[in-house]
Amino acid sequence: MNANELRSKYIEFFKSKNHVEISGQSLIPENDPSVLFTMAGMHPLVPYLLGEKHPSGTRLTDYQKCIRTGDIEEVGDPSHLTCFEMLGNWSLGDYFKKESIAYSYEFLTSPQWLALDPKKISVTVFAGDENAPRDEEAAQIWKDNGMPEDKIAYLPASDNWWAAGPTGPCGPDTEIFYWVGEGLPPVGSNKGTDSSNWMEIWNNVFMQYNRIDEKTLLPLEKKNVDTGMGLERTNCILQGKTSVYLTEVFQPIIKTIEGLSGYTYGTDEEKDKSVRIIADHTRSSVFILGDQRGVTPDRVGAGYVLRRLIRRAVRHGMKLGIEKDFMAEIAATVIENFKGPYPELEANREKVYKELTAEEAKFRLTLKKGEAEFQKLLPNLMKNPKKIISGKVAYNLYETYGYPLELTQELGAENGFTVDVEGFKEAERKHQEASKTVDAGAAKGGLAEQSEVTTKYHTATHLLQQALVNVLGDQVAQKGSNINNERMRFDFTFERPMTKEEIQKVEDIVNEKIKEDLPVTMEVMPLDKAKAEGARALFTNKYGEDVKVYTIGRDAKSDWFSKEVCGGPHVQHTAQIGDFKIQKEQSSSAGVRRIRAVISGGLPLDK
Ligand code: SER
Repeated sequence: MNANELRSKYIEFFKSKNHVEISGQSLIPENDPSVLFTMAGMHPLVPYLLGEKHPSGTRLTDYQKCIRTGDIEEVGDPSHLTCFEMLGNWSLGDYFKKESIAYSYEFLTSPQWLALDPKKISVTVFAGDENAPRDEEAAQIWKDNGMPEDKIAYLPASDNWWAAGPTGPCGPDTEIFYWVGEGLPPVGSNKGTDSSNWMEIWNNVFMQYNRIDEKTLLPLEKKNVDTGMGLERTNCILQGKTSVYLTEVFQPIIKTIEGLSGYTYGTDEEKDKSVRIIADHTRSSVFILGDQRGVTPDRVGAGYVLRRLIRRAVRHGMKLGIEKDFMAEIAATVIENFKGPYPELEANREKVYKELTAEEAKFRLTLKKGEAEFQKLLPNLMKNPKKIISGKVAYNLYETYGYPLELTQELGAENGFTVDVEGFKEAERKHQEASKTVDAGAAKGGLAEQSEVTTKYHTATHLLQQALVNVLGDQVAQKGSNINNERMRFDFTFERPMTKEEIQKVEDIVNEKIKEDLPVTMEVMPLDKAKAEGARALFTNKYGEDVKVYTIGRDAKSDWFSKEVCGGPHVQHTAQIGDFKIQKEQSSSAGVRRIRAVISGGLPLDK
């Protein structure tokens, strides 16, 4: 079995259990200011887990690309990845614990599916706390399916409670582990008694609560199931390999790196680490740049994370002695290997190459200047017996030479220094730069907190896009959109700055449509029909898949202003948006313009 087969089998299995396959979504959550990337398979499904009706029904399955960069410093060991695929199946108020567990166990152990040895499987269930009781129900279902008592561990919320963020849908989970130790597991061994030889392969979350705030946990009206199986890791285990980097998911990428560097993987621990960092970070960068809602390297937000990934990869490429620009070459291997399940990578091939190469060149220049400066500072630093690089020095390298903190840390560590990170942050604050590295909106609030204001901004985005097309022409295509409670940002393809008159005209059209108080309506239909009706659609959904189409206009068939395939939510009628004002129009990257706009006033949404 390989990863492609595992992906197909998973989907096929759940289809055989009456699930509908839905498309995975963009890595960039469109209307969720609380996170920069889609970090879990369930993330795009949050509105549905909270009760909204899904166009494809109540039993769903998919594979979803995810980015998690929280532990970026750990990447380099044999198991951590910043980009991974999550296989998932969902029940939206349909089946619950009984079927969920039975399906998982059948898929893992049936000879027709993965045929794993049941003796090598153990599970954990929630031990209970002040929020929810011990999950005896899940434990009993496992026993009914043949799981021996001693293979069931009861663990606390830190292990067996899943929440995507500080607020939002959550609940107890049961996790499934596979034995990766020698031979068969000893009698009585489970995740509770031996945490290193049991590897997690699947997490079944019983989403039955909605966390409103720190103190308030409300039961959901409908109970849901959210499961996630990490594709790369499970594939690795199925093949009996010790590292994801030794599987076919990464081997072609590693071969390309070997070709570029002349280094053979597996011969030097330190260099292996660099190879893994390059492989992981390039793959992540290709997925981010090649995303349907792609982001480009930037000083803020998701673009900043992308910049860090690229720059870290380049630095490790240098460590391996690769002197020329190399990321585009590795990107070609990544695209070749993943364009089947992710056709958007092929569609964005040229953009991926172009952006990688440009950022690489920029960074090489930065590095040269920054490292030279560091070497100049070194004799003086050596005089410090504590071997601490002050925040001021580190910040100066960043501010003056663009030399990133994490690289000063790495360079420092190579010379036996630590960096005063607090001091760096203090210097940064003083320089009033704090908001430049972290998207201010990203820190606040919980996952997919759809406030009234963001809903209004969302509808305003649809009006803005249509107004732009009317004024500037058909070459306008959405390149990105980002909303928080204070403003909206909209990126679109256009070759030159807009004139004052054009900006005014677009603003006037949007305000006119708001004043007309047009109804906003939603209809579910197959994607091809939506397109035939003239709906705008991002390159996200599968042909024939049922989608939601939002129309703004007096009549959804004959008299409308805007029509888009979109997950929602939206206002009920446009007067709820209020006054619309464009504050800024500027360049975002080559051929892409960015508009920043605000709304104010507006009627309250209907309840
Ligand atoms: N949300 C859970 C996870 O990400 C299961 O899908 O692990």
